Amino acid sequence: MDYERLKTLIIGSLIVVGLLLVIFIVIVRKLRKEFESSTVVEPDDVFYQNLKTALEKQHALTEEVKRKEQFQNTVLNNISVGVAVFDRYKKLRDSNSFFRTLFNLEGDAKGKTIVELNFPEEFVEFVKGINFSMLFKPFEQRITLKDRVLLIRVSKIKFFADAEGILLLIHDITELEDAKKKLELKNRLEYIGEMSTNMAHEFKNAISTVKGYAQMILSYANENEKSKKYAEKILKESENINEVVNKFLLYAKPLDVSIEEVNTSEFAEELKAMFEDRGFVDFVVMPSSFTFKGDRVLLRQCFSNLILNAIEGVKEVENPSVKVFFEKKNGYSLVFRVVDNGKGIPEDEITKVFIPFFTTKSEGTGLGLAICEKVIARHNGSIEVKSEEAKGTEVIVKL
Ligand SMILES: Nc1ncnc2c1ncn2[C@@H]1O[C@H](COP(=O)(O)OP(=O)(O)OP(=O)(O)O)[C@@H](O)[C@H]1O
Ligand SMILES: [Mg+2]
Repeated sequence: MDYERLKTLIIGSLIVVGLLLVIFIVIVRKLRKEFESSTVVEPDDVFYQNLKTALEKQHALTEEVKRKEQFQNTVLNNISVGVAVFDRYKKLRDSNSFFRTLFNLEGDAKGKTIVELNFPEEFVEFVKGINFSMLFKPFEQRITLKDRVLLIRVSKIKFFADAEGILLLIHDITELEDAKKKLELKNRLEYIGEMSTNMAHEFKNAISTVKGYAQMILSYANENEKSKKYAEKILKESENINEVVNKFLLYAKPLDVSIEEVNTSEFAEELKAMFEDRGFVDFVVMPSSFTFKGDRVLLRQCFSNLILNAIEGVKEVENPSVKVFFEKKNGYSLVFRVVDNGKGIPEDEITKVFIPFFTTKSEGTGLGLAICEKVIARHNGSIEVKSEEAKGTEVIVKL
């Protein structure tokens, strides 16, 4: 190859390579430009992006408002306070379920007037009487319906934009009032109890003095003198009065209870010994031996009165029978029963037998069952009387 041809070949190759390089650079540049231009955000995209974010925010806000509203409604509808909003024309704007239940409102009550809603008369009068323009500060009032006592707090409220209305918060205080009355009665009874206990003590002192004088007369009187007979009568009567006063004191005084473990068979033996002379009184202990908790002295007093009542009840019966049961059954620590086949209690008297001083006996005080009921109540137990005239009576004590 000669030099000239070689030179032309080299130059030609260089030109070709240069051209290829230029083409390559142009292509690379174009591709880069295209790539860059594809990542640039068009003005339209920015707008949509912002709109999307704004919508998302609004959605979140709406959800939050909904959640809060739901929460408020849940709270409002689950509180035991009636909430109602009336506008200045006394139309119901809103209310919670407690309010609607309290006044038996059914269906959609919104927008209706107090008269249309059939509220109790006393409530209508109350709402009518609220002077909207004078409602500077909240006030409270108690109103009594037929069977309910309500405490109502009245205040002004903005319920929509700048529309003002009347907010009523209603507390049903019926049970509270009842409890207050019961407490007042209890306090009064306690006071009366205390007073009569003091009086009974005075009585006892006076009787002791009378007894003392009667005993003196008796010691001076001769055997045949009338004064001896009279003095003896005074003594006997004084003792009777003393017994009544003692029983009354037991009924009126607060009971001091001292609980101990009582062995039933021993306890039954003690009672049995008290009535040994009456052959018709039978004692049954089932199971044969068990214990229960109670005040032995007070229960003996109560149970002996129940047995005595039964004995008195069978007085005029041909084949008298009094059965006394001590049983452990039905989950009770003691079921004590006295069953007799005596004259029974007439139906109209059965509700009165626990009333203090109710008696059908010439010598009775009518305090036996009243004391018994009190003793059993102090043991958190129950006492029940079942009876049928001319058939017999059953008294059941459950501890
Ligand atoms: N087992 C019974 N059978 C018939 N009547 C009974 C019986 N138990 C109670 N009663 C009636 O209940 C009344 C009241 O009984 P309670 O024991 O309280 O008083 P009481 O027996 O009359 O007098 P006391 O204070 O002396 O016990 C009796 O007067 C009697 O009429
Ligand atoms: Mg009695």
